[in-house]
Amino acid sequence: MGMANTIRFPKKFLWGAGVSAHQVEGDTHNQWTAWELEQAKARAAQAPYHYGELESWPSIKALAGQPANYVSARASGHYTRYKEDLKLLKKLGLNTFRFSIEWSRLEPEEGKWDEAAIEHYRDYFAYLKQLDITPVVTLFHFTLPEWFANKGGFAKRRNLVLFERFATKVLDEYGPYMKWIITVNEPTVYVREGYLNGNWPPGVSSKWQAWRVLENLVATHRHIAKLVHAKSRRLKVSMAHHISYVYPGDDAWLTRASSGIINQLTNHYVLARTVRSSDFLGVNYYASRRIYGYRVHNPDVRLSDMGWDMQPGDLRYVLDELWDRYKKPLMITENGLADAADTHRGWWLQQTIAAMYEAMGDGVDLLGYIHWSLLDNFEWSHGRWPRFGLVAVDYKTLERMVRPSARALARIIKKIQGDR
Ligand code: BGC
Repeated sequence: MGMANTIRFPKKFLWGAGVSAHQVEGDTHNQWTAWELEQAKARAAQAPYHYGELESWPSIKALAGQPANYVSARASGHYTRYKEDLKLLKKLGLNTFRFSIEWSRLEPEEGKWDEAAIEHYRDYFAYLKQLDITPVVTLFHFTLPEWFANKGGFAKRRNLVLFERFATKVLDEYGPYMKWIITVNEPTVYVREGYLNGNWPPGVSSKWQAWRVLENLVATHRHIAKLVHAKSRRLKVSMAHHISYVYPGDDAWLTRASSGIINQLTNHYVLARTVRSSDFLGVNYYASRRIYGYRVHNPDVRLSDMGWDMQPGDLRYVLDELWDRYKKPLMITENGLADAADTHRGWWLQQTIAAMYEAMGDGVDLLGYIHWSLLDNFEWSHGRWPRFGLVAVDYKTLERMVRPSARALARIIKKIQGDR
C-alpha cells in the first residue's frame, strides 16, 4: 500500500523522533540505578511468567532470562554518540527531536550544579541548531536524582520547589535554544507503575500516595507553565499525556457507561486539569482499549512484540476527540511499537500518517508527529529486549543500523511534505 498521491502535509509540520535520557544515554545515576540492580535477578527469573505467553517469547527468551537485560548500564551510549544519532535523524528527513534533560546530571547533589553536564547539554542544543533540528525538551521523564527521591520525591508538596528550581535552571541556561517544552511525561503512567503497581521506583502500592503524586504533578506543571511564560511568550508548554483510545465493543448500557468512565479517569482526569495552563497538548498514543461490560477485551488481531494490540488507525479518533473537547493544538509526542524484526513498523507508520491526515481534514490543529523512538533503548522494567527504534542498536558494539521501515518513512515524508 503506497501513500495516496493527493496527501500533503503542511510545510511547518514537525516530523520527529524521541528518546529520554535514562533510556538511551548510559551511565546515569538516579533513583533507577540502585533499583535496577536490586530487581534484576528476580525480573530475569520471572521472565517466563511475565513474557511466556507472548508470540515473541522464543526470540526474546535468551535475553529476557538474563539479569543484565534489566540494568540500563551504558544503555544505547547516546551520551557520547549523540552527534552520530542526530545526523541519522537528519538523514531520515526528520526535522524535530524530543529528548529529556537528566536532572540527576545537572544537579547530582542538592544545590550543586555540575558545570560539565551543563556544558554537555549546551553542546547538544548547539548541535541540534547546527543541523536545524527543532528540540522538544522534557523536564521529567520518569527519573529523579537520588537525593530528591530520598526526600520523598513528588509525593511531598514541599519538594516541588526543588523541581521548579531545576526547571528555572534549564530555562536560564538553554532558554534561547528552546521552544517546545514538556514539563512531565505521562503522569498517569508514572503514578500507576511507581505508586500503584510498584513496578518502578519507589515501588509503592498506595492509592493515597498515588493520588498525592498526581495532584503534585498537576500543581508543578501549572507553576512551571507560569515560569516558562514569564521567561518568554515564544516558549510553548505542555505535559505529554498517555492517551489510549477507549471504545465500547457493544451497545449494552453497562459497556457504554464503563467505557465512558474509563475514558474519563485514565485519559481526561489530568488533561482537563492542566489544559488551561498548556499552550498545546502532547499526546502519547500506543494502543486502544475495547470495552465489554466493565472489562477491556481487545480484538488482539495483530500484536506487537510486547503483546500490545496494534490499531494505529484509531489515532484519528483520539485526535478528533481531544480537539472537540479542548480546542488546543495537538502534538503527537510519542507513538510507536516494539518490533525487533521490523515486520509491522512500516504499515504502522503508513496507517498512522493516514490517520493524522484524516484528523487534520476533520479540522484538528496538529503540530507534529514524534515517533518513539529514534533508537532502541532501555524499556524500564522490561529492560532492553523490546526494540522500539527506527534505528537498531547492537548492544555489544553500540553500532547503529537504520531499519527498513525508517527508510520507508523518510521516503513518505519526502513525498508528502507540502510546499505551503
Ligand atoms: C514512555 C516511554 C516508553 C514508551 C514505550 C511511554 O510510556 O514515555 O518512556 O519507552 O512508552 O513503552
